[in-house]
Amino acid sequence: MRNIKRIFALIITLFVISAFSRSTLYEHLEHKRGAYDHDNGFFTPFTPLEATPHPVTRYYEVELSQVDLAPDGFVKKIFSINGQYPGTILHANKGDNIHVTVKNNLGFPSVIHWHGMLQKGTTWNDGVTGQTQCSIPNGVSFVYNFSTGEQCGTYWYHSHTHGQYMEGLRAPLVIHDPDDPFRSYYDLEYVITMSDWYHGRISDLLKLRMAPNYGGFNPIPDSGLMSGVGRYNCSAAPPNSQCRPNNPLAVYKVTSGKRYRLRLINMSGLVHYIFSVDNHPLKIIEADGQYSRPVTVNKLPVAIGQRYSVIIEANQPVENYWMRATIDDRCILKNQSTINIDSAINYKVTGILRYDGADIADPKSKEYPDQTEPCLSLDQSLLKPYVPLQVPGPATNEIKLTATFGVDSQNIGRAFINNSTYAVDDQHPTLEKFVNNKVALNQFPANQNIYSYDKWGETVDIIFINNNFAIHPIHMHGHSFFVLGTGSGIEVDKSKLNLIDPFPRDTFVLNSTSWAVFRYKATNPGVWTIHCHIEWHVEMGMVAQIIELPTALSKAEIPESVTDLCRQQQKSKRSRFSRRNRLYNIDMERIKV
Ligand code: C2O
Ligand code: CU
Repeated sequence: MRNIKRIFALIITLFVISAFSRSTLYEHLEHKRGAYDHDNGFFTPFTPLEATPHPVTRYYEVELSQVDLAPDGFVKKIFSINGQYPGTILHANKGDNIHVTVKNNLGFPSVIHWHGMLQKGTTWNDGVTGQTQCSIPNGVSFVYNFSTGEQCGTYWYHSHTHGQYMEGLRAPLVIHDPDDPFRSYYDLEYVITMSDWYHGRISDLLKLRMAPNYGGFNPIPDSGLMSGVGRYNCSAAPPNSQCRPNNPLAVYKVTSGKRYRLRLINMSGLVHYIFSVDNHPLKIIEADGQYSRPVTVNKLPVAIGQRYSVIIEANQPVENYWMRATIDDRCILKNQSTINIDSAINYKVTGILRYDGADIADPKSKEYPDQTEPCLSLDQSLLKPYVPLQVPGPATNEIKLTATFGVDSQNIGRAFINNSTYAVDDQHPTLEKFVNNKVALNQFPANQNIYSYDKWGETVDIIFINNNFAIHPIHMHGHSFFVLGTGSGIEVDKSKLNLIDPFPRDTFVLNSTSWAVFRYKATNPGVWTIHCHIEWHVEMGMVAQIIELPTALSKAEIPESVTDLCRQQQKSKRSRFSRRNRLYNIDMERIKV
């Protein structure tokens, strides 16, 4: 009798499995067309937007959805912006208003953050789940509407929840400057993004990464992509996967005698890139949205979250030249337990710079011999503000943030800031709790990692101490900060601070066991996060929140469209519209420490 029951159960299981695999197969066939040949528009040069007599509002619509794409030849279902990877490049002029309707058809709640945009007076547009808003539920459209203010340069936008940007939700944002002091230095522009790429589902990888007793490091990616194009070694792909060998590389066409402004963005979740173009030195004119005095390098390290504009001149013989986006493997920590340790990743990511008239062939050019410091930002002393900037006077407020690693009571690997690991509260964003529900600063749970200062215009120093072996690209929202100095050890060496001509950035790398001092003025009321931009470290809790100028902030009026999101989320939670979403909610619920 028992055996019969067992056999019966087995038959049912087999039936379910076969039905399930048939349906996924069907989905694959349906999406197969177009997975290889999509044009993301990144390989057509552009010129700056035309200036308008007055600032205008630029309207954009982006749709988040799942599509099958094969950026590196390997077909996988990705999270896309407008069906492509990377997502659509958005353009605006300095001073313009950006009005973006985000249509969420992802099947999951999502959110969009505008990396580097200061959001002066519009903190609710910052796009951070659990801090400035609830996620946009599936099936809902939400409008981000903000001024670019005085800002120009190279930025990007990406999901800011549950590692989703590593699944594809990331794209460039270019703010042109009608008064660009370097306009006569270049003829045409390209955006070049660099990113890592995982073949596994990020939600699955996160589950493994955050499993109790996990003894490895961050998952090793499967590919590196230049502007969304890479080449995977298909012989390493699992059987039954669709993979096109020798995937065509990224090709940038240039015309002899012309000069190109390349806008470089590292949009990775884990890796540090070193960019170069054989035979073509890079003249840096912008870093993180700030003009720099021109400085020329052969190799440029670009940490996660950082951006540069460099100018190259097509003044070499008509030929093909390698463009190199080399992943710095010196900072990829691994041991035998590390997820995807046998990844077939090729750390030497390449593209081709092809002169008009050159053969369609692989380049034979040689790499510059220059060496770069392992995994660090470009030496800050090379960057000088293009116009002298006033460094705010001595700090009246110092916030010391010390980053460490450890495990929680369930033996799950966590990252800590001042001994507290951040846990996102998806349902109750800080901004609403503080402004609408009048929750006092000291009433926030400790795991919200909240810091605050309330004197308008005062000088704030963030003293970031990295008290562990890993390297962290630290990014702050709502501000561009002067990097006053950095050094090894966990004690700030004040004699090493540059108070004369430091360069402002919004992302800066801390070496293992080191300190850095970031300075800015408190003039932007809001909820601003400061975190490591290694997305795995974010999920592990290396995040703090700053409630800047709470007195002013408490008078802010959060638009109803924003507060509505939490209500809509509650509703969609209650209605339990699909099994998939239910599963997702369970997957994604934070394990409380
Ligand atoms: Cu690129 Cu907190 O973001
Ligand atoms: Cu980190």
